[in-house]
Parts: sequence; C-alpha cells; structure tokens
Amino acid sequence: MSGIYIHIPFCKQACHYCNFHFSTSLRLKDEMINAICKEITLRKNYLANNILNSIYFGGGTPSLMNADDLSKIFETINKYFQWSPESEITLEANPDDVDNKKLKIFKTYGINRLSIGIQSFFDADLKWMNRAHNSKEALDSIKVAQGEGFSNISIDLIYGSPTTSDDMWKKNIELALESDVPHISSYCLTVEEKTALFHQIQHKKTTAPDLERANIQFDALIKSLTSAGFDHYEISNFAKKHHIAIHNTNYWKGQSYLGIGPSAHSYNGQSRSWNVANNKKYIDSINKEILPIETEFLTPSIRYNEYIMTGLRTMWGVNSDEISVLGDMYRVHFLSNIVKEIDSGLVHICDDQYVLTERGKYFADRIAMNLFFVN
Ligand SMILES: C[S@@+](CC[C@H](N)C(=O)[O-])C[C@H]1O[C@@H](n2cnc3c(N)ncnc32)[C@H](O)[C@@H]1O
Ligand code: SF4
Repeated sequence: MSGIYIHIPFCKQACHYCNFHFSTSLRLKDEMINAICKEITLRKNYLANNILNSIYFGGGTPSLMNADDLSKIFETINKYFQWSPESEITLEANPDDVDNKKLKIFKTYGINRLSIGIQSFFDADLKWMNRAHNSKEALDSIKVAQGEGFSNISIDLIYGSPTTSDDMWKKNIELALESDVPHISSYCLTVEEKTALFHQIQHKKTTAPDLERANIQFDALIKSLTSAGFDHYEISNFAKKHHIAIHNTNYWKGQSYLGIGPSAHSYNGQSRSWNVANNKKYIDSINKEILPIETEFLTPSIRYNEYIMTGLRTMWGVNSDEISVLGDMYRVHFLSNIVKEIDSGLVHICDDQYVLTERGKYFADRIAMNLFFVN
C-alpha cells in the first residue's frame, strides 16, 4: 500500500514561526491546481503499486481549495489510482476556513479525516504567532466539523511559545481533551531561519522560546494525554485506539509515497526526491512536461541513519534484524553504540525492539545522532 501527498502552497497570511513552502498571493491558484493535476499524470507510474491507503492534502493551507479545485484533483487521481472509503483521506484545515458549506464539499470528495491547525486556544498566543484565526474560531471549528459528521479529527497544538504560561498550556490540553478529538499532534515551537520569528528574536523584538519551559510543557502533555487514554505513538503524535495516522505512519515505517506540488517529497524505496519550492518555477516546468525535481539515491548508510532517526521517535522503536538487512557493519555499529543509551536509562529493549524510555523522549534527536553511521 502507498500514499499520495499533495502540497497546496498558499496561505492567507504568514505565521511568524513557519518556514514551510507557501505564498500569500493566491494569484496562481488556478494554474497551480492544473499543474498539480498534470504532475499526477506525469508521475502515474512512480509507485510500484497504485492502490492507495492514504491521500494527504498538506500545506500551506489546503482548506483554501474550493469544490472545483478538489473536483479536478480527485478526477485525476481516480484515473490512475485506486482507493476505497477505508483509505485515509486527510485534509489540513485552518480554523478560519472551517464552515458547514466547506465541510460538506470536503465530504463529497471522500475526505474522511481533518487535521485542524488550532495551535492554541488563547488569543495572546495566536496573535503573537500571527495566525489568521482567534480562540473562538479555534473552538468552533472542531464543533462544526464534528457536527458535520467528521469523527476522525486531529488537532495541531504548539507548546514552548514565550507567550504560553504553564497554566495556559494546561488549559490548552484540557480544552483539547474536552473537544473529544481522537488524535493530537503537538509540536515544540522551533525557531527556523528565514522566518519573521527568527528576525524578531535576532533584533530583540521578541523573546526566544525557553527550552526548560518547553520540556515542562512536553511533560504535562505526555502525562495528561496518556492518562486520558491516548497512545504516545510518535514524539509529536498521540492517538486514541484505531486512530493512529496511516499517512504519517507510512512515512515512519518506510512505505512508498508520491509527493505532488511544489516542495513535496517522494520516496519509492530506492530514492528520495523533492520538487522545487517555488510556485512559478514549478508551474512553468510542469507545463513544459519537465519534472522540477531533484533526486537522491539512498546508500545503505543513509537508509540506516533515516531508519534510526524516524524509528526511534516512534513507540515501535528500531529492530537490530532490520538494521542487519542493510549490512552487518550497521548492526555492529548500532549494538556497540546503543549500550550507553541503555545504561543511561534512555532506551530500553521490549520484544527485540529498542524503544525510547519516558526520559529518553526528551533527547530523541541527540540519541539518534549518537547512533548515526558517519562514513
Ligand atoms: C505546515 S503547517 C500546515 C497546516 C496549516 N496550514 C496550519 O497552519 O494550520 C503544519 C503544522 O506544523 C506546525 N508547525 C509549523 N511550523 C512550526 C514551528 N516552527 N514550530 C512548531 N510547529 C510548527 C504547526 O502546528 C502546523 O499546524
Ligand atoms: S503554519 Fe500553516 S497557515 Fe501558517 S504559514 Fe505555515 S502553512 Fe501557512
């Protein structure tokens, strides 16, 4: 089974922390939708098997699409790929776009999972982040989606913002739990280069996030959500039974996926490729039937490092037999380096899987780097 990711590179306004690829000018939206359809056609043979268990509209802001846009995209997908109502069809929605009319359109096309970018239920956080929605719209969007019959809903929350006190964060968790959604993705605020936030911090116009406070908030998050029956199945992801995200789990478990649209990444087992992150260049190139793509063929060392990086972040961990498939030297390297993490209580072995302990979850990236194979 494989998945398709479709990147919709437009947003109403730029959130100060975000360095995903998007444009705040919607001038090229129609041309972009046509180019996306054309890219799907050009790459119809990329996956070995065209039976999809997931389609994911990410962004940018896919909820800016109208019925015409979705109709064109699904018509093209349906020409070349098979999927069923059991497939996971996710669309990332911003709270300010969520209304009954839009949701009915999404349902018509088979979208059965919404990922709503709440970030916070507090206006002080949302204003500081430069989000296009307010706290009331955040709460309402979830209720309206549930009212329209969407039960498979995920919400995104950000912790570690200098505007979020520990009490505000506890309230955010409480409101997330009260909203009764079965999936929560929660990210630690990161300061990315080339964002407004990065410049504001550099010019001392705002405060940088405090790592210690972020860790306290991550701790509160894990404790509250796991006590409420969520599985902490990946560092930033929590799900109730039967609601683990199929699309993201495909990524973490090394399944193939086709990424369509500017900046989208694809993976087919042998190589990884990524499209140009520029709307105009993307459209011009696709219109000439030239894929605006760069490709990296994966050596065993890259595969090993990727497996460690992604696998360790999940509740399934990593397995030394899977590492052996890449070559015995990787298994030897892994086994000799994992010992100190086990001795420090950061990793434990569970049914032959090496999994982060509760304490290890705070050091996932550092532990992975210590295990990397450097040629
Ligand atoms: C790229 S956005 C797309 C979703 C949608 N446009 C939205 O913002 O609601 C996906 C998620 O990434 C997270 N995110 C993006 N940049 C981040 C950053 N610098 N630090 C932490 N989380 C970030 C946000 O939670 C956001 O909802
Ligand atoms: S966080 Fe979402 S809405 Fe904000 S700029 Fe990034 S992609 Fe756009």
